[in-house]
Amino acid sequence: MKVKLNNNYEMPIIGLGTWRSKPEEAYEAVLSALKVGYRHIDTAAIYGNEEMIGKAIKDSNVKREEIFLTTKLWNTDQGYEATLKAFEDSIKKLGVDYIDLYLIHWFKGYENSLSTYKAFEELYRQGKVKAIGVSNYNIHHLQHLLDNVEIKPMVNQVETHITLQNHFLHDFCKKNNIQLEAYAPLMSSKINDLLNNETLQEIAKKYNKTVPQIAIRWLIERGVVVIPKSVTPSRIEANFNVFDFSLSDEDMQMIRKLNTGRKIFVEFDNVDY
Ligand SMILES: NC(=O)c1ccc[n+]([C@@H]2O[C@H](COP(=O)([O-])OP(=O)(O)OC[C@H]3O[C@@H](n4cnc5c(N)ncnc54)[C@H](OP(=O)(O)O)[C@@H]3O)[C@@H](O)[C@H]2O)c1
Repeated sequence: MKVKLNNNYEMPIIGLGTWRSKPEEAYEAVLSALKVGYRHIDTAAIYGNEEMIGKAIKDSNVKREEIFLTTKLWNTDQGYEATLKAFEDSIKKLGVDYIDLYLIHWFKGYENSLSTYKAFEELYRQGKVKAIGVSNYNIHHLQHLLDNVEIKPMVNQVETHITLQNHFLHDFCKKNNIQLEAYAPLMSSKINDLLNNETLQEIAKKYNKTVPQIAIRWLIERGVVVIPKSVTPSRIEANFNVFDFSLSDEDMQMIRKLNTGRKIFVEFDNVDY
């Protein structure tokens, strides 16, 4: 299942996350994922696993053009010239000649946001990236970009899960044709809080599915792109096995009630890295 970005480029609604996957683990995880049907991989320069992910893509025998590959520009590389250079480093490590989606990893001030994004527009015009976007941007950061750039961002990747549902941000993104993408969909390091959630457990039982499958399906039903991370083959497979059922309106509403605003990652403004 795919979503269409604002430039009509298609993005698979589920992808494999690879943060904290060590290079060797990432290699195996990408091979497992591609084997069970994933066609979307999410990495970042800072994850230190681009080389092995590129190698796994090559070794998988899946055609490059069938895979949607995202990487992200790290904070210390923001600014026009530094961005162009960092992009070259990333594609070299990944061993590819284009990236499907290039994201500014974090907001680092309005000036950096614009100069970095201008380099992204340049890469997009040259066809080296098929889509451009941002990560960890809130409404005010996005609005500043929309007011000042020529090519609208196509994606905003932010922390989104049962306790941080981002309905306002999602509405803003929909209104502006920006695709919302959920990172930490299983609550990342706090996954036990998700696994032990009684509402999700009850719903999972009803559909004969697991709690992570319910959490992933709920995002898909909302039209949010989702990138669960795992290095465990059985979990990689299970997390992708979410297309043979759909949640009732009533169950969607039950999950909506779990929205407490609890955030696991730092606030988007003033990150100190
Ligand atoms: N843009 C950003 O700033 C940013 C920030 C954070 C994350 N991300 C991206 O989003 C991806 C996902 O976020 P995340 O990695 O933080 O967290 P996540 O996907 O919410 O959770 C990952 C954790 O859940 C475990 N897990 C996965 N599937 C499971 C299952 N079916 N049953 C039980 N446990 C399961 C994984 O363990 P095992 O691996 O041991 O199986 C891992 O410990 C990242 O990998 C990265 O690509 C982006």
